[in-house]
Amino acid sequence: MNTLHELHQDHINLNRLLELLSHELAALKRGDGADLNLLADVIRYIADYADGYHHPREDELYAFFAGRDQALDKVLGCCVDEHHGLTQHTRTLRQTLEEVLNDAVLPLTVLTEQLEQYLAEQKAHLDYEEGTLFPMLRAVAEEADWTLLASDLPSRQDPLFGAQQAAEYMSLYQALQEDLQQAS
Ligand SMILES: [Fe+2]
Ligand SMILES: [Fe+2]
Repeated sequence: MNTLHELHQDHINLNRLLELLSHELAALKRGDGADLNLLADVIRYIADYADGYHHPREDELYAFFAGRDQALDKVLGCCVDEHHGLTQHTRTLRQTLEEVLNDAVLPLTVLTEQLEQYLAEQKAHLDYEEGTLFPMLRAVAEEADWTLLASDLPSRQDPLFGAQQAAEYMSLYQALQEDLQQAS
């Protein structure tokens, strides 16, 4: 499995989490049954795995392919910029959520609006990488590139979707399993 396949699998997993977040957003908007602790678990996982590992790994991959093609360089630069924005917005959303959970006098609409924007931004980024950047990378990359990258890029077990779940993500893992059962 080459690095791009692994990143693609991360995208599938992230999409499942974004789906879970949109259910919570809908519940927040209805004013009924939103699970704020589940929301906090998802954001914590995104901060930990996506912002802390998936995006930095992509940044290294994109730097590796920089300078091969002008059009590709532009798209690579765009995605690296988006990673900065996404990380910043995860932090902001996390702070807002903590304030809400700690009973700060904060209108719930602040959380709802931030979450809505965050979801749209995350989805747009995933779609851009999957629909525009990854096909461009496949077109320029050779097998030798993937072999080199496989040994050079950092590698880490996914604490939620990997073979073993970290204790801190166990309730989120169970929520995902239930979500999957309901969908089938
Ligand atoms: Fe990315
Ligand atoms: Fe990505």
